[in-house]
Formats: sequence, C-alpha cells, structure tokens
Amino acid sequence: MKKFYIETYGCQMNVYDSQQVETILENLGMEKTDDYRQADLILVNTCAVREHAEQRVRGRLGLFKAWKKQNSNIKVGLLGCMGQRLKDKLLEQEPVLDFVAGPDTYRKLPIILDKIQHGERVAEVKLDKNELYDEILPHRDETSRISGFVTIIRGCDNMCAFCVVPFTRGRERSRPPQSILKEIEQMLEQGYKEVTLLGQNVDKYHYENTDFAKLLEMVARLDPNLRVRFVTSYPQHMKNEVLEVMAKYDNIAKNIHLPVQSGSNRILELMRRGYTREWYLDRIKAIRQIVPETAIGTDIIAGFCSETEEDHQQTLDLMEQVKFDYAYMFKYSERPNTYAARNYKDDVPEEVKIRRLNEIIELQNRHSYESNKRDVGKTFKVLVEKTSRRSDRQLMGRNSQGKVIVFEADKSLIGQYVDVEVYDFTQATLLGRLKK
Ligand code: 5AD
Ligand code: SF4
Repeated sequence: MKKFYIETYGCQMNVYDSQQVETILENLGMEKTDDYRQADLILVNTCAVREHAEQRVRGRLGLFKAWKKQNSNIKVGLLGCMGQRLKDKLLEQEPVLDFVAGPDTYRKLPIILDKIQHGERVAEVKLDKNELYDEILPHRDETSRISGFVTIIRGCDNMCAFCVVPFTRGRERSRPPQSILKEIEQMLEQGYKEVTLLGQNVDKYHYENTDFAKLLEMVARLDPNLRVRFVTSYPQHMKNEVLEVMAKYDNIAKNIHLPVQSGSNRILELMRRGYTREWYLDRIKAIRQIVPETAIGTDIIAGFCSETEEDHQQTLDLMEQVKFDYAYMFKYSERPNTYAARNYKDDVPEEVKIRRLNEIIELQNRHSYESNKRDVGKTFKVLVEKTSRRSDRQLMGRNSQGKVIVFEADKSLIGQYVDVEVYDFTQATLLGRLKK
C-alpha cells in the first residue's frame, strides 16, 4: 500500500490524532493523498458524541463501499471514538471495513495493516491509560504553518451523564511539560505563530508539580510573538490562577470556552456536572474581573432527560445574564451505555427539543450580534490565516478573542500579525480595514 487518504470528524483532538496517524503511516513509507480515488488505504477518523456525527460517517462509508466494489484491492479503516464505542460490532454492520481502531491503538497501525493485507479483518480497541503518543510528532502541513494544535491531556474522568467521551477516550492522562514545550519549540522553528493547547478538560492538566496555570505560563514565555490558545475549560475546575496568567501575558489569547450545558441546577445535577448555576456565574464574574477583555463561549444542550419548561427558562435566563459571545448549541442525543442512557428516560419529545433549541439559538444570535456590534470602531491585532472564501483580494484572520475578521490586503501578509480596524460585521464575521 502506497497512498493513504484520511478524513476527520469531531473535535480538534481528532484533528491532532489524525496528524499523528499521518506520521505513523509516513514512517511506513506511505504518502498522503487528498483524493480518496487515488488511495490504496482510506481512513475515517470518527466522532461518537451525537448520533448525527455517527450518521454522517455511515453515509461516507456507503460511498467508500461503492468505490471499493469497483476497486477491490483498496482497504478501508475506521479510527476514533465511533470505533471505540462500537468495536467489532462495526465490522459486522459495515462489511466495507477492513479494520476498526480505537484512539489508544494507533501505534499498532503497522501490525494492523500487515494483518489486513493478509485478508484478516481486525478490531483493535483496547484503551491504554498510559498511551500519550508523546514522541510521535504530528505531521504538520508545510503549506499552512501558521496555527497548530498540541494535545496536553488525553481522556476524560468527568463522567458527565450524557457523554460518551470517557468511554471512547478512556482515563485522563497528562503529557510531561518538557515534551509539550519541545514540540512547541519545534513549531516555532517551523514558523508557527499560534498554538492551541488541547484537552477535554485542560484545567485538570497536571504532571508532577506542574498544573495548567504553570504550563500555560511556560508556553506563553517561549516567545512573546506566539499566540497561545487553549480548549476546553471546565467550570468546576477552572482556577483563578489560570485567569491571572492570562492577564499577565499579552500573547495568551483572550478567549475562554466554558461549556455550561444547562442553566438549571436540577438538570446540572442530573447531568452530574459537579457545579451549580451560581458557581458557574461566579466563574464568569472571575473572568470578567481578572481578564475583562475575554470573549466567552459555551456549549448548551437542549432537552436533556426530564427537562421542563421551567428548566429551559433557567437556561435562557442564564444566557441573558452572561451574554455569551458565541455558543455551540445541541439537542440532547442519547448515547448508549452512558449514565443517562442507563438511568434516565430520554423523555423530552423531539418537537419540544427542536423548539427549545431554536429559542436558544435565536437568543444566542442576538447576543452574538451585540458582541460583534461592540467591536465596531475597535482595532485588533489579527493573525492572518489565509485568503477569504469570497475573494482573493480579501484576507481572513482572527483576533485574540478568536473572532474572524475579513479585510482587504495583499496575500503577502498571510502568516503575519497586522492591526485591523473593524467598521462593520455580518452574522459570523467582523469586517475591517488594515491600519497603516
Ligand atoms: N447530546 C447532545 N450534545 C452532547 N454533547 C456531548 N454529549 C452530548 C449528547 N449526548 C455536547 C456537549 C459538549 C459538546 C462537545 O457536545 O455540549 O460540551
Ligand atoms: Fe467526538 Fe468527543 Fe471523540 Fe472528540 S472526543 S471525536 S468530540 S466523541
């Protein structure tokens, strides 16, 4: 097998994992292609967080099945969370698959590929609480060395009632700070201007006596011109120390993603989130006090088990109090074997979930609009990422708050920091002018 193609779904952790898989395959002498019709090996790195995510993957597998019918020599493998969730059942359900490999098994890919070449079908799904892929540097595309990810903590021990992640990604484990720093130093040498530290819960990072606040400070000190981002924060564990480090360093992006999930204490308890609405609002207050210019984003689930109209109103009310800059909003999707699936009834009717979700989205759209409107007239330091989708003469980049800004300027500025003044905005982007 010479050429592989890889398609990635789900979160940024998956994007990073896929890059590590690329490295592993390249070490076998294989080469990546962006066209699956050129590939000897087709890989799909999957997500299991909601049923919809799995359905999309099933659709893609249908397409690859048709392709494999005409090209019987190719192989197809499924990686990631959906593979970990369904294991060998997936081999039964999807005859197109030659193998399934869970998130902690990528080191075994050479052996797996050898087996499937000999006609075996393989499900490799053991979780390994020590696997950090610590020395496997992800493949970083030479054409876009501007902003990159680095995983600092894998797995999740939170056990929120609705969530499949603890089952698909296993126990929490932190990477040693030395290897994180080494990886980022190498990125700096390659010309990177921005790094995003990744974890399901970055606030739980700890390695010997280094906690997340210390790690963040160490990364920020590597280079004042390296912008440092991180996701995802967890309300129960986010400490003021982290906010103080953010306030101290200009190059730490002023953006916190702090999923609330619900504004109702009764639902939060059923979700086993480990905090109350009052605790969450106190964390928001701390962010606004210590790092006032920070953009705050969240995740919200509509229609969790037994959610009443009153609970839903509490969510809308919390949104009114916080006025999030942005939010990712979902309908509750029951995931097999989670605490909620085993203990509660998914009893909010579909049409009620949809209506509540729409109310949440509508309110968020108003808040995002207000947030963007407040930015008109301000000047931001923008890291230019690429030309905009609309036109070659327009560039797009992000400010420290993570907002996308589009402005007219020459392509030669890609990969640089520039000052841009915002004069208007659309639903999802700020429109700006380059400051001379
Ligand atoms: N149903 C709907 N949304 C979910 N999320 C996680 N599990 C589920 C589920 N079963 C959402 C949460 C989480 C985000 C990554 O996905 O809001 O923060
Ligand atoms: Fe999806 Fe969660 Fe797995 Fe990421 S960790 S791929 S969001 S299920």
